[in-house]
This record gives sequence, C-alpha cells and structure tokens, in this order.
Amino acid sequence: MAQIINGKQVSQNLREKQKSETEALFQKYGKRPGLAVIIVGEDPASKVYVANKEKACIEVGFHSELYRLPEETTMHELLELIEKLNNDDKIHGILCQLPLPKHLDEEKVILAINPSKDVDAFHPVNTGKIMIGNHSFLPCTPAGVMKLIESTGTEISGKECVVIGRSNIVGKPQAMLLLQANGTVTICHSRTRNLKEVTKRADILVVAIGKADFITGDMIKEGAVVIDVGMNRNKEGKLTGDVDFASCEKKASFITPVPGGVGPMTITMLLENTLTAFKETL
Ligand code: GUN
Repeated sequence: MAQIINGKQVSQNLREKQKSETEALFQKYGKRPGLAVIIVGEDPASKVYVANKEKACIEVGFHSELYRLPEETTMHELLELIEKLNNDDKIHGILCQLPLPKHLDEEKVILAINPSKDVDAFHPVNTGKIMIGNHSFLPCTPAGVMKLIESTGTEISGKECVVIGRSNIVGKPQAMLLLQANGTVTICHSRTRNLKEVTKRADILVVAIGKADFITGDMIKEGAVVIDVGMNRNKEGKLTGDVDFASCEKKASFITPVPGGVGPMTITMLLENTLTAFKETL
C-alpha cells in the first residue's frame, strides 16, 4: 500500500520558511517582495485562483496588488499596465492570469512581462534558461512536483522517469527538471504507442494529460512513485485526478491524492519565485 504524499503539509512547511525569510529580509532591508496579479474578465475558476494567490501573499508577508480588469480591456490598456508594473520598484513579480478573453493575444502579453519579473516562467527567455539548466525561475507546477518527489526521499538520479503530457506549462518543463536531476526521461502523449509498456517501466511517473482516472493500477510498476497533476471533474462533479487512485494506491510506493497533492504546491512555488525575484534586486 502506497504512502500518500501530503501536498498540503509540504506546502505549509515551505510557506513557513518563506514567511520567516521574508520577515528577516524586511528587518534588514525595510522592503518586502511584491507580486502583482492581473485578471481580465469574469472566468469563475480564474477568480478563485487569483483570490487564493492574493491570500497566500498576505499570509507570508508579501506586498500584493490585484488588478481586476473588465472583459472589454484592450490589448493597448493591458500592455500599458504591464509596462507600468515592469517599472515599479515595489513589484518583483507580475502574473497575468490565463486564459485571457479571446480578443487578447496571450503570447504578446507573456512577451511584454520583463523576464526578471516573470514569476510564471512563461517568457521564452525563462523557458530557454530552463532548457540550458541555468534558470532564474521554475514554472510553478513542475517545480512543485519536484518538491513533492524530494519530500519522499526518492533519489531521481539514474531512475526511469516517465512524464505523460507535453504541454509547455507542465509536461515539457517537467521532463527538463527530471533530466537535470539525472533521471532517464521519457515523454508520452496522445500519439504514444503501447503507452502501458512505457508507463510500466517508470520508477517515477508524472501524469498531466487531463483525462480523469486514465492511469490504472495495471499500468504502473510495483513500487513506483506516482504524481498526479490532473484536475478533472468526474460525472458526479467531484474533483478527480488523471490517476485512478484506488487501483494505483495498491501498487505504488508513494502517490499524490487529488485534491491535496500537487494543487497546494503551485501557489507556494509562485511565492518562491517572487521571493527569488525580490532577492535578485537587493
Ligand atoms: N491559469 C491557470 N494556472 C495558471 C498559472 O499558473 N499562471 C497563469 N498566469 N495563469 C494560470
């Protein structure tokens, strides 16, 4: 029976460290890390995410600014706000919540954020730095996954690591981070043949494909570490991951639950990036 990785606890421990470091830096320099979050429009899930980000900032003692812009905001207005924040010394991290309304160009918005304040690590300068192993910021979800693996005491070096999903936000950077930790990494996706053969080889399996309960116990190796990045609603409207927890729990050595696994880590890693950006300015 697997040990359950408690993402809430790992996250809580990190936030306590962040809080005491922030306080110590404030005592020394009289300044606090500042995060600006921009939300355009009324997407209900995005509203919940940004409210949680603001709450987390305040809890660890950061300066927080939330910009709620109307649905009809123009590209020009949004870029003007980003430029103002790029030049604001109180702000060390800028996050523009995605998805944006359809008339706005997400790529242009990402490019407009100064890479040194890009705490999502979405700017090509930052994605490129991850590729060459010389990062300033790590994208929040894959960085959170690495912390969870670390919390189990599992050595990554030399292990078979399989990532399912190849998104720019999770799958691709996740594979890079596992590679930098000296894992032997395979990326699987919707066109992968004989998926089960590949997943059964994994000592460490990270699943980010967005299909509810897709990975079942027969697809994993005995003793695997299974990390579930999925967030799906099942037929009953209940939040569920990409991994069928009941069957995988019987075979894995460690497994993350949904909710309470990867989810709580992402905002914590955003705080970590903001703290890093702030320290660069001291
Ligand atoms: N929308 C959902 N998750 C994220 C995230 O991590 N960053 C941004 N900018 N938008 C999101």
